[in-house]
Amino acid sequence: LIPVQKNPGWWAARYIARKIKKFNPHKNNPFVLGLPTGGTPMSMYKELINLHNGGEISFKNVITFNMDEYVGLPENHSRSYRRYMFENFFNHVDIRPSNINMLNGGADDLDTECEEYEEKIKACGGIQIFVGGVGTDGHIAFNEPASSLSSRTRIKTLTIETRQANSRFFDNNIEEVPRYALTVGIGTLLDSKEVIILASGLNKALAVYYAVENGVNHLWTVSALQLHRKGIIVCDDEATMEL
Ligand code: GLP
Repeated sequence: LIPVQKNPGWWAARYIARKIKKFNPHKNNPFVLGLPTGGTPMSMYKELINLHNGGEISFKNVITFNMDEYVGLPENHSRSYRRYMFENFFNHVDIRPSNINMLNGGADDLDTECEEYEEKIKACGGIQIFVGGVGTDGHIAFNEPASSLSSRTRIKTLTIETRQANSRFFDNNIEEVPRYALTVGIGTLLDSKEVIILASGLNKALAVYYAVENGVNHLWTVSALQLHRKGIIVCDDEATMEL
């Protein structure tokens, strides 16, 4: 657990930049990075863009895999995670478009889409760092409470709590929030060499408590981090209030 003075996203950006810089000398080996969406990682993307604009890092040798996507939103819908990623990050850095991987929630065959995503990750040699946020109910990616801790990429039904929390991005209208999403599994996340979970604010304090001070519990999927050798939770003061 790493409590930070500045915001968790800023810390994560610096950490990732250091790792990418160290990795870059091996030119033939791209750095494989797992990425989240949501409010919490916004500051991470801002700082990564700053570092990129300042000439400190390049994403030319980076392959990305996003963790999740809603099912049924048109690709360019203002609230699709694809759109979020391009607007908040990809459009501002030198990443090669062919190195960007995102689940397609509009695919004809969603099961095949998920299987192929797993294969693509494998073909890249696995993920070096998977960064995520956490839901108020302790979900990571869209692995809702009671997800199997060895789950792989698949379709999940979203809980009312998650749809409620995410309705702030849909004009506060829960009916507009999709009912299903594609998500990497807990098993997929745990296979990464490192997992970094960002938690910010009082509404994440209970999730941080379950992640750190309770047992491994599939009702709080973030607690699966305890099974990882390098599972890092980066949080601000407010998110530590239940510890
Ligand atoms: C969504 C995403 C999660 C994210 C969570 C919290 O449910 N699927 O990956 O961690 O929201 O997001 P926020 O950072 O906006 O609180």
